[in-house]
Amino acid sequence: MAKPRVIIVTGTPGTGKTSVSRLLAEKLGCIHLDVSRYVIENRMYVSYDEERQSYVIDEDRVREAIKKLVETSKCIIIDIHYPELLDFLQPDIIIILRTAPEILERRLKPRNWPENKVKENIMAEILGVPTANALSIVGSDKIYEIDTTDREPEEVVRIVLEDILEGKAKPGPKIDWLSRMSPDELIKYEYSG
Ligand SMILES: Nc1ncnc2c1ncn2[C@@H]1O[C@H](COP(=O)(O)OP(=O)(O)OP(=O)(O)O)[C@@H](O)[C@H]1O
Ligand SMILES: [Mg+2]
Repeated sequence: MAKPRVIIVTGTPGTGKTSVSRLLAEKLGCIHLDVSRYVIENRMYVSYDEERQSYVIDEDRVREAIKKLVETSKCIIIDIHYPELLDFLQPDIIIILRTAPEILERRLKPRNWPENKVKENIMAEILGVPTANALSIVGSDKIYEIDTTDREPEEVVRIVLEDILEGKAKPGPKIDWLSRMSPDELIKYEYSG
């Protein structure tokens, strides 16, 4: 694959987007755009949702700002958990980080989020929501899922550089937590909202 100019790194919160993107950007000599952080630093939100404990972003402003950054960057790694916002972009690839639900639960615990928010995010991971959203903006030939459950960010970056960018990895969705879970395991993550 020619050196990519625009890479989107997505996934449920806690799957390691920021850790991986930072390292990948360093290795490729690209800019790392952590969209959540950028939105907060530049106050590109319209309100704060107390119940969800998250900002409601000003979508038009964020789109416009990202568009400008992409146009003026030689190469950029966009670290975002709602890739569907970037439907105007034509990324070279979208990398989706996946983490087994019980391990993701462990990674999200220190955040002290409301139980409902943790469950909602774990259910999104079980159902593969980030992958479905990535597929709403590019074809499956441009998406690559990586399981970060037992992998340090360094190993994930090695997979991107040596397997994906070298054309050795097969694109398309491949991870399915749901089919491995019993109804009893699944019901633990039922949430209201
Ligand atoms: N591969 C990994 N193995 C173990 N822990 C990890 C791994 N990747 C990230 N973590 C840890 O999980 C936490 C979340 O990582 P990180 O902030 O990179 O995730 P994120 O996907 O960017 O989350 P958010 O969407 O909330 O920004 C951090 O404490 C990080 O140290
Ligand atoms: Mg992050």
